[in-house]
Amino acid sequence: MEKILILDFGGQYNQLIARRVREQQVYCELHPHSMALDEIRRFDPVGIIFTGGPHSVYLADSPKPDPGVFELGVPILGICYGCQLLAQSLGGRVTAAGDASAREYGKTETVFDPTCALFRDLPEMSVTWMSHGDYMERVPEGFSLVAHSAACPTVGICDPVRKFYGVQFHPEVDHTEHGTDMLRNFLYEVCGAEGDWSMADFKKEAVAAVREKVGDGRVLLALSGGVDSSVAAALLAEAVGNRLICVFVDHGLMRKNEGDEVEAAFARWDLRFVRVNAEERFLNRLAGVTEPEQKRKIIGEEFIRVFEEEARKIGRVEFLAQGTIYPDVIESGKGDAAVIKSHHNVGGLPKNVDFREIIEPLRMLFKDEVRQLGRELGLPAYLVNRQPFPGPGLGIRVIGELTKEKLDMVREADWIFRDEIAKAGLQGSMSQYFAALTNMRSVGVMGDGRSYDYAIVLRSVNTGDFMTADWSRIPYEVLDRVSVRIVNEVRGVNRVLYDITSKPPATVEFE
Ligand code: XMP
Repeated sequence: MEKILILDFGGQYNQLIARRVREQQVYCELHPHSMALDEIRRFDPVGIIFTGGPHSVYLADSPKPDPGVFELGVPILGICYGCQLLAQSLGGRVTAAGDASAREYGKTETVFDPTCALFRDLPEMSVTWMSHGDYMERVPEGFSLVAHSAACPTVGICDPVRKFYGVQFHPEVDHTEHGTDMLRNFLYEVCGAEGDWSMADFKKEAVAAVREKVGDGRVLLALSGGVDSSVAAALLAEAVGNRLICVFVDHGLMRKNEGDEVEAAFARWDLRFVRVNAEERFLNRLAGVTEPEQKRKIIGEEFIRVFEEEARKIGRVEFLAQGTIYPDVIESGKGDAAVIKSHHNVGGLPKNVDFREIIEPLRMLFKDEVRQLGRELGLPAYLVNRQPFPGPGLGIRVIGELTKEKLDMVREADWIFRDEIAKAGLQGSMSQYFAALTNMRSVGVMGDGRSYDYAIVLRSVNTGDFMTADWSRIPYEVLDRVSVRIVNEVRGVNRVLYDITSKPPATVEFE
């Protein structure tokens, strides 16, 4: 399989570069800029991309790759910092843009030389997204200038002999009009890629790899019903059949019908499905607890404990499987972000389970690729297209203390909300939407009597990455239908609120 290596210099769009490359049916991986030359050779890329980054190449402590990377005979595309790095490393000169004019941010009209392979068959002029304060004052020998803007004469450089290309702007973001085409030109015209990365092939290879690794051993997987663990389960079931044991812990914090839906989705495979009804046990441990972090912690711990107990009944298994996906792998390499909430994924690593090795069959896939693989494996659409659902489930959607009555209220309200959204055909237009139960009671009038009941709050957000999010502009008529149904159908609720806060300052969930 042909591979592209992306060397990470700390830019904020690096994951996006990787996704764009894979969208062109070319497999790629993102690695730290310090990757050793030997490792790069072993990786055997058909092309290398240097990402952007926040540094200035002319400073002594700025990140640099092993200089041997320029001698490998492999094409290189440098983006923003990566472009300046290319220039500086090969004998050019980069400086801080002295007069404000060569410094560029935002959408910029750019003129291209279409004889350069990177811009082949593209318009001579289009908009690019710039974000640089440094400027290539002199380009290295062998390079020619192939793009410029009104402010900056050196927006694009190329050395077609060594196949080195650099652009000051970000082709990976949507604001760059023909960015995807330029990346495609790099992959296909410059690197000679043929586009052999497809989900059907990935599935075949992944199934074969699991079979080879597992041999006649057994695999244990904690199935949460979320997209990642479900797809991992389907892949493993395809590979090892009934030597896969899925433990599905129903903690009583699931949405309406969720447990049955998950169980039904796996009926077609010959795997061993263990469903543990642990509702009472969770609710007992959570009784009287109101502090959000403590709730999360208890749910996480209790989950592991139940899972361990079930695993002990099963006895020794050789492999423990996890639904880790590529963004988790990339993000866990960093870790300087502040902890806002202690996110936990059901299926975190248990301590007392007797296994030899961990397998993570999805660790190289992005979320949309995981969904694609799920479809390839024949999982039903309701599982594959599922919106994100937090590990602690409805436990963090009932504000304050958890009781069975409150959980039933939020479960019912949430189901009505989802039902009305589906009837209005709006599911695809929101990233995540759900109901939560406030712990506020207020006065209302129902029939001829006074009520003093709870308020349900509806939350719906639109977002690409869930790091920031905007609230969804759901049509008033739809909100109205949801509100009427909730107060009519859910006992104990007399008021429905709609959350119109973005993230930040709010988070998506309430706890
Ligand atoms: P917040 O509330 O942090 O949520 O803005 C961002 C996204 O993460 C989901 N979320 C979780 N997912 N375990 C998970 O697996 C958790 O503990 C957890 N907490 C929040 C949330 O639903 C949203 O999609």
